[in-house]
Amino acid sequence: MATAQPLAGKTAVVTGASSGIGREIARQLGLAGAHVTLAGRTRDAMDEVAREIEKAGGVARVVALDVRDVAQVRALVEGAVEATGRLDIMVNNAGVSFPSKIAEADPEEWRTMLETNVLALLAGSQAAIRAMRACKAHGHIVNISSIAAQRRDSGVYGATKHAVNCISATLRTELEDDTIRVVNVMPGAIATNFARNFDPAFLEGFAKMTGVQTEIRKGERLPDEVIAKLQPLLPQVLGNADDVARAVLFAVTQPIEVNILDIEIRPAKQLNLG
Ligand SMILES: NC(=O)c1ccc[n+]([C@@H]2O[C@H](COP(=O)([O-])OP(=O)(O)OC[C@H]3O[C@@H](n4cnc5c(N)ncnc54)[C@H](OP(=O)(O)O)[C@@H]3O)[C@@H](O)[C@H]2O)c1
Repeated sequence: MATAQPLAGKTAVVTGASSGIGREIARQLGLAGAHVTLAGRTRDAMDEVAREIEKAGGVARVVALDVRDVAQVRALVEGAVEATGRLDIMVNNAGVSFPSKIAEADPEEWRTMLETNVLALLAGSQAAIRAMRACKAHGHIVNISSIAAQRRDSGVYGATKHAVNCISATLRTELEDDTIRVVNVMPGAIATNFARNFDPAFLEGFAKMTGVQTEIRKGERLPDEVIAKLQPLLPQVLGNADDVARAVLFAVTQPIEVNILDIEIRPAKQLNLG
């Protein structure tokens, strides 16, 4: 029988929990009863979700960190284990995209994508495996990839997500004899701050549609109001972070024998954001 708190007694860590898909996953895991550690760079946004979880009777911790630093990712997982004695769910979600052409890009953008989208996910997975084995968890590692991993010409960002698919599949094989399942999630275009490093003119067009007056600065987050108003205006091409979070919640509440490999989730029409 389904319970209202299917994740009661479980511990979860979510990276990139200060915005978009990660924030919504953290919220839903917390409301489903998990003790959640939210990790990201913008503390205020995470504090707000933590308060919402606690208001509903749950427990949440907030850790501000840079996932590009392997030591900080390890400390993040260790902190969750210290607080609760266990780890059951690790969501490696933090990610960035710089869409520049390879011939023109700043190599620092490649470094940022590789360190955030690949290195941090590897470090998070390794730390999670050790923690889950130590407490004999029926655990789930959830890696947020992208539909960009399905195109061969999806740029350096796409290359990082091809790497995520490969890492997820490899981990799944390595963990066959453990009680740890690996769920690889490939979202399509979802209304979040994902496009923060895109050409501001591209974003200005979208912001204008919402009627919200805001100045778009490359690399900076959009007001939540813009994102919330934009998605319902373009439901055919833009999905909700909530849709992805519900899929993740479904996967991590299955019995450990149920091996959900990949989840591809996107709006009806595909928009290739790269
Ligand atoms: N939205 C889409 O269309 C889409 C499609 C396919 C896949 N994805 C994937 O979904 C995941 C979440 O992206 P999103 O769409 O939710 O974008 P988002 O709104 O920009 O959220 C990205 C999250 O990652 C965090 N982050 C980035 N670099 C970090 C770092 N060095 N250290 C710590 N946290 C860091 C951000 O923190 P701050 O906001 O605090 O800086 C934010 O919480 C990413 O892996 C992305 O590649 C998104």
